Formats: sequence, C-alpha cells, structure tokens
Amino acid sequence: MISQETVNKIFDTVDIVDVVSDFVTLKKSGANYKGLSPFTNEKTPSFMVSPSKGIFKDFSSGKGGNAVGFLMEHEKLSYPEALQYLARKYNIDIEETELTPEEIQQRNERESLLAVTQYAAKFFKQQLSTSEGKAVGFSYLRQRGFREDIIEKFLIGYSPEDRKALTNSAVKAGYKKEFLVKTGLTIQKEDYEFDRFAGRIIFPIHGISGNVIGFGGRTLKSDKNTAKYLNSPESDIYHKSRVLYGLFQAKKSIVNHNRCFLVEGYTDVIALHQAGIENVVSSSGTALTSEQIRLIKRFSENITVLYDGDEAGLKASFRGIDMILEEGLNVKVLLFPEGEDPDSFSQDKSATEFTEYINENEQDFITFKTRVLIADTKDDPIKRANMITDIVRSVAVIPDGIKRSVYLKECSLLLDVEERVLYTEVNKIRQKRREQAWKKERTSTPDQLEVPRQPTVPSFVKNVYSEIEEREIIYFLLKFGNRALKISGEENADINVAQYIIREIQNDDLQFTNLVYKQVFEDVKAMIESGKEITERVFTFHDNKEVQDLAVDIVTSKYELSKVWKRKESYIELPGENLGVEVPKALLLYKLRVVGMALEELRKQIGEAEKKKEDDRVMELMLRLRDLEAAKNELSTVIGERIILN
Ligand code: CTP
Ligand code: MN
Repeated sequence: MISQETVNKIFDTVDIVDVVSDFVTLKKSGANYKGLSPFTNEKTPSFMVSPSKGIFKDFSSGKGGNAVGFLMEHEKLSYPEALQYLARKYNIDIEETELTPEEIQQRNERESLLAVTQYAAKFFKQQLSTSEGKAVGFSYLRQRGFREDIIEKFLIGYSPEDRKALTNSAVKAGYKKEFLVKTGLTIQKEDYEFDRFAGRIIFPIHGISGNVIGFGGRTLKSDKNTAKYLNSPESDIYHKSRVLYGLFQAKKSIVNHNRCFLVEGYTDVIALHQAGIENVVSSSGTALTSEQIRLIKRFSENITVLYDGDEAGLKASFRGIDMILEEGLNVKVLLFPEGEDPDSFSQDKSATEFTEYINENEQDFITFKTRVLIADTKDDPIKRANMITDIVRSVAVIPDGIKRSVYLKECSLLLDVEERVLYTEVNKIRQKRREQAWKKERTSTPDQLEVPRQPTVPSFVKNVYSEIEEREIIYFLLKFGNRALKISGEENADINVAQYIIREIQNDDLQFTNLVYKQVFEDVKAMIESGKEITERVFTFHDNKEVQDLAVDIVTSKYELSKVWKRKESYIELPGENLGVEVPKALLLYKLRVVGMALEELRKQIGEAEKKKEDDRVMELMLRLRDLEAAKNELSTVIGERIILN
C-alpha cells in the first residue's frame, strides 16, 4: 500500500501538462493548453489541460480528471500503477505502509530481479555490435530482413557463444549471482554455471509498463536436437501466463484501432510492426490463458486471431478461442494461405495491403468453426451430431445473450437445424455450468473477511437514496451470496456473504430505497432464515419481472468493472477475486454514501430551523450532526485505510 504522504507528495509534484505531453502534443491557449483528443479521432482540438487546476478535460469523449486519471484512462494503468509511474517520472521514493517484513523483502527482491533483467537486455543489445555479434547475430537479423529501427524498438540482442559472457559481465558489474539464477539468465549446476541463452538471438519480453521481465532466445542452428526457442523460466517478475509478447509496444495502437491481432510467435509480432501494423501481440510459446485474454480486454474487445495455414494447428486452437469468447470478446479468425505465416506473408506488403487482406478475409469465429467442421462430417450422422454439440458449446460460453441469439440464428442456417433446438441445447449447457460453478464456489476455501465489524450508522438515519451503492451490494448478494467468508481471528466464525451483508445492514437498520433491490434483499433474508440455499435461479426465475431482469443482468455481467470502483477511480479489478475485501468495501461505501446524503439533508434542516429561530430544534439537530459527522469520519478512516490505496 502506498502511504498517504507519498500520494500527497506525488500530487504536489506532478505537472499535468508535463505528464500529458508525453502522449499528446499540446499547444498553449490562454491559461490552458489544447491538443487533439487521444481518445477519439478528431480533427479539431477539443482536448484541454489546465495546469492551474491540475486537470484535463476531453470535450470530444467527455473524459476528464487529474494526472493519475489520465494515466489510468490513456495507459490503462490501475490506480497504484499510475502512482508508481508518476513516482518514477519525478524521482519520488515510494513509501509503503503496512508492509510486512516479508512483503518488503519480496519487494526488494523484485527490484533486484528487474535490475538484473534490465542489465542483461542492455548487454545483449550491445553484443550486436561486437565483431562476433555483427558476424553472427546481426547478420542473421539482416538476412531475415529485420530493419534497424525495429531491432531497436524491440531491443533485440544477441548472447555470445561464450557460455559465461553474460554471467561474468553481470557479476563484474556488481549484480548478485543469486538474481541471475532466479531470473534464469544463468543456469546453476552443482559445480559450474553457464548462460542460458548463449549463442542465441534474444527477444526481450516487456511487462505492461515497459520493464524487461523475461527473454526468448532463438537458436541460429538448424540442427533438430536444439530447441528453436528457449524462454525465461517463471520467476517473481515473469509469469508466462500473465504476459503477452508485444503488448507494451502495441497497447496504444490496440486502443486506437479498437482491435488486437493475435499471432503465434515473436517474429510474427515483429514482422507486423515492420509492415506498419502495431496492434499485435503473441502469447509466445504457451497456450493462451484467460489472464492474457483479460489483459487484451483492458484495451479492446475485438480480437482477430491470425493463423498459419495449417489445419491441425487450427483445430487444436479451437479450445483457446472458446476461452476468448467466454471472456466476452468478439473473435474473428484469419487463415493465411498454405505455408505462410504472418511473418512471411507480410514481407512484401505495405500496411494498407496487409490490412486490406485481413479485412477481406477475416471471418467470424463461430461461422468459421462451423464451416471447418461441416466439411469433415459429410453424411455421417453421428459425426454430425457431435459437430453440432461442439458448435453449440462455443456459443454457450458467450456471456452476452443477444450475441448468443444472433449466432444461433446463423448456425441454424449453416447447419440446417431448427433454431429452437439449438436454443434448448445452449440453455442446457449453461444451466449445467452454473450448477457446477455454484458447487465449486461452495467448496472452495473461504476468503478472509477484512473489517469484520464495521463502524455503524446512527439509528436516526432512514431511507436514504443511493442507487449505485445499493446495486453494488445486491450484486454481491446475488452473485456471491453463498460463498463462505471467514472472520479473521474468530474461531468457528463461518459466515457466508449473504449473511454478512444482511447482518451489517440490519445492524444499522438501513433500508434499500430501490424497491427491486429491497425485494431481493428481503427474499435473501427469508431464504437464509428458513435455511434455504441462495441460488441464482430463484431470482432469474423470480415472478417479479423486474427482479428477474436485475438478476439476469447481474449473473451475466461476468467481469464487469464494478461501478462504484469506477467512480472512485481507485480500483480496477475483477469482482469476486477477494470477497473478504470487496464485500466489506461495498458495505462501507454504501454507508458512507448514506451518511453523506443524510448530512446534507440535516444541514439544510438546521439552516431552516435557525431561520425560524427554533432553538430547541436546532440544538437537537446539532446533536445529530455531531453523531453523523463522527460516523462519517470513522467510515472515511476505515475506507481510507482499507480501500483507496489498497
Ligand atoms: N516457441 C517456443 N519454443 C519452441 C518453439 C516455439 O517457445 N521450441 C514459441 C516461440 O514463442 C515462437 C512461437 O512459439 O515465437 C512460434 O513458433 P514458430 O512458429 O516455430 O517460430 P517463429 O516465431 O515463427 O520463429 P521463426 O520465424 O524464427 O521460425
Ligand atoms: Mn516464422
């Protein structure tokens, strides 16, 4: 957690014009600065920065905020990441609060690992200009047609044949062998050690904010017993499953084009950049993971997967694509002609030609899959039935109901099967998956409840309207109601999310003002009292249509950013990952809102009573004011400690 003092220091130091200028060309205009919106494609500048207020406002997209908000919006950083970015830019030491000694050690270790990878990247790059490097490494890159600006952009390098070159150089420069080994740059055997990547072309892998966190090394030999690529092993700074090669260099372009190309290898990414196409990433040697998909989703919901024209590889990849659909993204696929990959295919083409080829040849994934599989089944009825199930499964994972029905219509035509039949199949699959998810949730280990007992709201506060916060609580109630929580420090203190929420709200005698939410709340309460399990079905099939709609909305919003956090601009994370923090947070924010609104109302009443000189009433109201302010302070303190800088 970054200390409040550090945050203050950062806010005192940053110059918003300076921060924004790294991304947008600004011109002075009176007391302010103006530029073209980085969020839209406008021709006349409507993006404004006010140095005196420390804020920006983009009149074409409606976005606005301070320097941190700008970085979160433009660079898609989380709140802490944005603060770290600024601290680095202005050389401010980040003071951390409440880090345990282990956490501090871990932090220091991470930094040491990053220092080593940074050193190594520089070392490898320099090796390209030694005589060996020129003759072997650089000439290989040349022969493959890599331009120098691209070699530079991707920090491509070369690791000399000498199996100790890097290790010796780094140790001499003062880096600890321990960290060379932990990052996998040096391989340690019992009585000797050597460079992992010796004799290979080096492709550094950047983390999302630009640090080099790992490497891929390509051999220059064509001998079959040598692995073509070696990659860095997992370490504290490099988690394969959470990294995409090229994302750092691609992110701006992905946002601008609102589309991301997914290719198979390092060289495909690089070749596309060379052809002028920059919105491209690769999962570098591992099967695509859902974490990687969500990483892309931060920047765009549209993915086009580019394949080499190889049918076996294609079918093997169908699973991976279902995962993309499951995350709610739109997937298109493009097959290159037999024997071509994005690298070879882009060689003699301009960006326009290449993009045109893609636009003309890309196909929607479900349609594509259906066509590919139909070709295999011919007239075999069993194969045909299996194929239909297979396709229906892909459709069933799509979170959005409208998209699902559009696909089913199309599949019904392509497959010549009645739409109604396909619907039934999809619903069966979805129902089954929901049941499994519930079972799994109930048997997983409970989240530790933070802030087990919350500050309370004075009892005279009643019926305060607070739509967004109420909905947030209903969200947790409906979606995670059955999930177990464990109260820290208490034995046998098992409680589920719904019980905890109900306990907290009743304790303060608060009532939801939105009647639909209130109905859900009352129903859940009744279910708990009668010992019934809270199932989504009760609500998605509720006899009150409004409750039904709400429930459907909530259960299908898989990775929706929670609105409260969005508004607070403090949190970008996926709900459900740490309920022990999220649920208390939602409750605290609700209470704070209620108290805030009540305060406003009370101040008005006091003003009126003063005008009318009703001294007794003023006195009575002032006492309430004191209680409310105390409650507000207490809530803000807990929230400040627990949430804002979490
Ligand atoms: N890969 C790997 N280990 C291997 C082979 C491949 O990690 N032994 C990964 C690499 O990330 C590689 C990707 O899989 O970039 C695709 O492999 P391939 O198509 O064989 O390599 P290219 O990237 O096309 O490399 P080149 O063009 O140099 O052959
Ligand atoms: Mn290739």
